[in-house]
Amino acid sequence: MSETVKLIYRDKCIELPLIEGAEGELAIDIGKLRQKTGLITFDPGYANTGSCQSAITFMDGERGILRYRGYSIEELAEKSIFTETAYLLIHGALPTRRELNHFSVLLNDNSLIHEDMQAFFQNFPRASHPMGILASMVTALRSFYPAYSITNEEELNLIVARLMSKIRTMAAMSYKISKGHKVIYPRPDLTYCANFLNMMFDNPVKPYRIDDTLVEALNVFWVLHADHEQNCSTSTVRMVGSGKVNIYAAISAGISALWGPLHGGANQSVIEMLMDIQKNGGDVQKAVMRAKDKNDPFRLMGFGHRVYKTYDPRAKIMKRMCDKVLRKLKISDPLLDIALKLEEIALQDSYFIDHNLYPNVDFYSGIVLRAMGIPTNMFTVMFAIGRLPGWIAQWKESLDDPKWRLSRPRQIYIGNTVQKYIPIDEREVAGQS
Ligand code: SDX
Repeated sequence: MSETVKLIYRDKCIELPLIEGAEGELAIDIGKLRQKTGLITFDPGYANTGSCQSAITFMDGERGILRYRGYSIEELAEKSIFTETAYLLIHGALPTRRELNHFSVLLNDNSLIHEDMQAFFQNFPRASHPMGILASMVTALRSFYPAYSITNEEELNLIVARLMSKIRTMAAMSYKISKGHKVIYPRPDLTYCANFLNMMFDNPVKPYRIDDTLVEALNVFWVLHADHEQNCSTSTVRMVGSGKVNIYAAISAGISALWGPLHGGANQSVIEMLMDIQKNGGDVQKAVMRAKDKNDPFRLMGFGHRVYKTYDPRAKIMKRMCDKVLRKLKISDPLLDIALKLEEIALQDSYFIDHNLYPNVDFYSGIVLRAMGIPTNMFTVMFAIGRLPGWIAQWKESLDDPKWRLSRPRQIYIGNTVQKYIPIDEREVAGQS
């Protein structure tokens, strides 16, 4: 008999079962609440609400723990590569060498996009944000690849490879076309990350020299971003997918959800914030004061997290990657100095300590991307490419879940009670319509 909690409401007293997770976390199963009491729960932003049971990613926000399928993010960032981590998230186990080689062949074989899709890029205004282009292009994939079923492993592998490989090609192609440069095609002899860098920066008169440190940094960057349990964009993919729409539409919805500056768009906002501070003479104290001022909408971008109430474990790794990449390229970035100063001051300030505000994954990630030469307006696209395997894994898990059903939250209505329709000529009070 599972443990229960008692809910006493007016003349009713009901027992609700407790659900326990693999790491001991507990939840009240309110699946029968409305049926038994007529009550619903109210939790804006879902800060206290579990939407599903998942075996993909475990986070402990108090202890700063992040694991994909039980493997720590620290170990995967150090020992794995992005395609292997993607396979782990989606299939639930680390691939054998044969499985990884097969996955790499599928990624290569599906790395081109239909030539007709190139015309789409030509018709976006040049100043279009790459996230808007990416969301549109991923939805458009449905028009070129209509039929699929994920009932068998091979079909699923094809869908995964098609999405993962083409999103990378489309991102690089969008950049080249936005610059008026020649589009560089994927190469069969390059790894996933090296191929992306080459498609972004190679050109006919100045061949791109692939730097192993940047390839390693990109692998780490995408491993760190690959999944993060039920964040805003992943919950969006699950919500949209629950209507049984095709995977391209569900992933495109996730891209749009990620775009926001409070979520994946924060990596772009962090760099813009650091550049503003630099422009204003590097006055870090002023930025910290503004972040604490309730009358000032300014927030310290890259700080704070709904789940982590300590240092985001990904931010620690990203911070180390900054040093490694800048040292290898023999460059220094004044924005990194500003970021380090911001962190030092904030982490000694009672406001940030009391509010449990620490650097999150976005605080240092932009510095690494800048060092690679990625334009700021593509930072969230880089996040999306990394998060794609997580979205796919969560989408598939939701469809395989026997308890999964169409997502449709309830509400507490606070509008008008019943109104009588008034013919227009009798509406004397202005604005009554
Ligand atoms: C990502 O969910 C995920 O897992 C997301 C992500 C992933 O991998 O998918 O980790 C990726 O989105 C990371 C977060 C990126 N966003 C930012 O860096 C934007 C800046 N951070 C914040 O806007 C904020 O911290 C959120 C949105 C991330 C989380 O906010 P919450 O949990 O809704 O908390 P809140 O807004 O209710 O803030 C609680 C208090 C408030 O003060 P009080 O009114 O209680 O006094 O903390 C303050 C806030 O004002 N606060 C901040 C702050 N973040 C929160 N104050 C100054 N600067 C900040 N950054």
